[in-house]
Amino acid sequence: MRVIEIRNGKGDARALQPGERPVPDVWPGEVLIRVRAAGINRPDILQRKGLYPPPPGASDILGLEAAGEIEAVGAGVTRWLPGDRVCALLGGGGYAEYAAVDARHALPIPAGLDFVHAAALPETAFTVFTNVFEDGRLEAGETLLVHGATSGIGVMAIQAARAAGARVIATSRGAAKAEAALGLGAEVSIDAEDGRFLEAVRDAGGADVVLDMVGAAYAGQNLQALKPGGRWVVIAFQSGNLAEVDLARLMRGRLTLTGSTLRGRDADEKARLAEAVEARLWPWVADGRVRPVVDKVFPLEEAAGAHAHLESGVHTGKVVLRVG
Ligand SMILES: NC(=O)c1ccc[n+]([C@@H]2O[C@H](COP(=O)([O-])OP(=O)(O)OC[C@H]3O[C@@H](n4cnc5c(N)ncnc54)[C@H](OP(=O)(O)O)[C@@H]3O)[C@@H](O)[C@H]2O)c1
Repeated sequence: MRVIEIRNGKGDARALQPGERPVPDVWPGEVLIRVRAAGINRPDILQRKGLYPPPPGASDILGLEAAGEIEAVGAGVTRWLPGDRVCALLGGGGYAEYAAVDARHALPIPAGLDFVHAAALPETAFTVFTNVFEDGRLEAGETLLVHGATSGIGVMAIQAARAAGARVIATSRGAAKAEAALGLGAEVSIDAEDGRFLEAVRDAGGADVVLDMVGAAYAGQNLQALKPGGRWVVIAFQSGNLAEVDLARLMRGRLTLTGSTLRGRDADEKARLAEAVEARLWPWVADGRVRPVVDKVFPLEEAAGAHAHLESGVHTGKVVLRVG
């Protein structure tokens, strides 16, 4: 099958080159997906650079999500049949014509979505669901502060929080992105190009939950932006992982600081999450309150260009590879 390999060392996007690999075996409990589209995520760039190795047992091929048709079904799988249209959360292996995955990590493609838009869903849906609604415990009527508002994750977080009846305060770097976040449903959208957002968040009443992909540079303001009982949920530290935290503020405010990664979770935990995402978030996709926003589509063979586009930071929403 055709795949994208990381050639000539790691680093530059041009290291991504088409190659050939055997079609994966289908083990009991797995399905083989004929991939039609694969979503690109920021962690793929880290993996390309050698900074985010695949967990044990995962494919070394990039790609954390894909959509397509079931090609074959492993022993013991009863939910899926060949030909079913699915999208799936993958431990790796999406940048390829076929991907094998635990059958429990596949979800039906919501009605009305094509493969490209379906491939843009799993990684952001699972990540936002577990971080905002499980660890962040965001409730209707509360306020979510989300940074990187126009990122793949940010776009999902804004829409999902709104669908759940919460308010959203968004930050992004640049006036055009701040404008886009308003269009996606943020009630308050802050251009934080100069790195400052605290005053505007306070003026808007503060936040119950912060979804933080920035890390060190925003840490002090995040802590100050939270209302009593607030939850600060870290999913990345793009400005650095070492931050000074005022523990007195944490204690006085009864604040919670937590964080996690999705990829390293075990298969049963991802299966549990898949069920929860299908029950809670899929209906919002079906009724249009959450819609995958696809910025640009590249053919699989042009994965290098797709990575360069994501790295340029000009996108709003997702960048997707079309396969075959
Ligand atoms: N923990 C997990 O389980 C998990 C799972 C998936 C993704 N993630 C992380 O979530 C983040 C978003 O992923 P994605 O695929 O949606 O990425 P993406 O579309 O490439 O977006 C990255 C975003 O990060 C923002 N950003 C980067 N550096 C920043 C800085 N120094 N200060 C402020 N904002 C900064 C950018 O904001 P501007 O556009 O405003 O410049 C951009 O919107 C990534 O860091 C990724 O690694 C974590």
